[in-house]
Amino acid sequence: MKRVVKKAVFPVAGLGTRFLPATKASPKEMLPVVDKPLIQYAVEEAIAAGVDTLVFVTSRTKRAIEDHFDKAYELETELANRGKSELLNILQNIVPPHVSCVYIRQAEALGLGHAVNCARQVIGDEPFAVILADDLIDDGRDGCLSQMVQVFEERRCSVLGVERIDPSETQSYGIVQANPVQDRLSQLESIVEKPKPADAPSNLAVVGRYILTPAIFDKLDKVTRGAGGEIQLTDGIAALLREESVLAYEFLGKRYDCGSKLGYLMATIEQGLKHDELKEGFKAYLARLKLD
Ligand code: G1P
Repeated sequence: MKRVVKKAVFPVAGLGTRFLPATKASPKEMLPVVDKPLIQYAVEEAIAAGVDTLVFVTSRTKRAIEDHFDKAYELETELANRGKSELLNILQNIVPPHVSCVYIRQAEALGLGHAVNCARQVIGDEPFAVILADDLIDDGRDGCLSQMVQVFEERRCSVLGVERIDPSETQSYGIVQANPVQDRLSQLESIVEKPKPADAPSNLAVVGRYILTPAIFDKLDKVTRGAGGEIQLTDGIAALLREESVLAYEFLGKRYDCGSKLGYLMATIEQGLKHDELKEGFKAYLARLKLD
């Protein structure tokens, strides 16, 4: 097994029913937070962590994602003709030259575990990252995945990004039971997908960030349908845990659950307040709004 995390898997085949009708004809991952689609935040985080191969597990109706990360000849020519070099530069650097994109179709929406397993041939015998674009994480620095890569490089085993959640929300997450190893880091004892609060082993929830060893693939091959009738990544990790250490890392930074409308609005407002071009005007607008 190689020792560095160079590939990241982006499962983007989901239907996005929570945002209908906005997501009827365009992917939920293309919903913009201020001026960038969610998937671009995820891709930028991966690249900042040293990833050079982006593996999108995609499906029908998700073509906009491929187009977003592709060259846009007409648009670029037009911007060049009009002398809009700043915008041109932004477009041309969405994917830097050293990074490549691979697209794999997940023909049936059988679950996150199945989606990750679809990437097996491209990943090979290497550790890799999984990023769920729904979870936008802002740490004000290089990103959550960079923090996790550092943990991986020190410990050489799978690492899950986790966060303490309100105990009433366990049914929305994979929940772990873990023993503290050091500040922010604990060793997994067990993991269960979307337990009822009464059955949850803790309130430590897996968010959409994973670094996994390639041993996960053999486990995923054997996973049968679990919570929600889906092939769950959580169940693959539970099997991996019987053979290898898996760590839970409480990342630094703020997570926005952009899979929910409220979380998406929170992200939009807070990123708007940080946006160089908008922050002054937006802050003033919000202050006025409060007075109304
Ligand atoms: C998925 C995973 C779950 C994890 C969550 C994080 O669930 O199955 O274990 O906690 O992402 O966002 P989903 O939100 O796709 O239902």
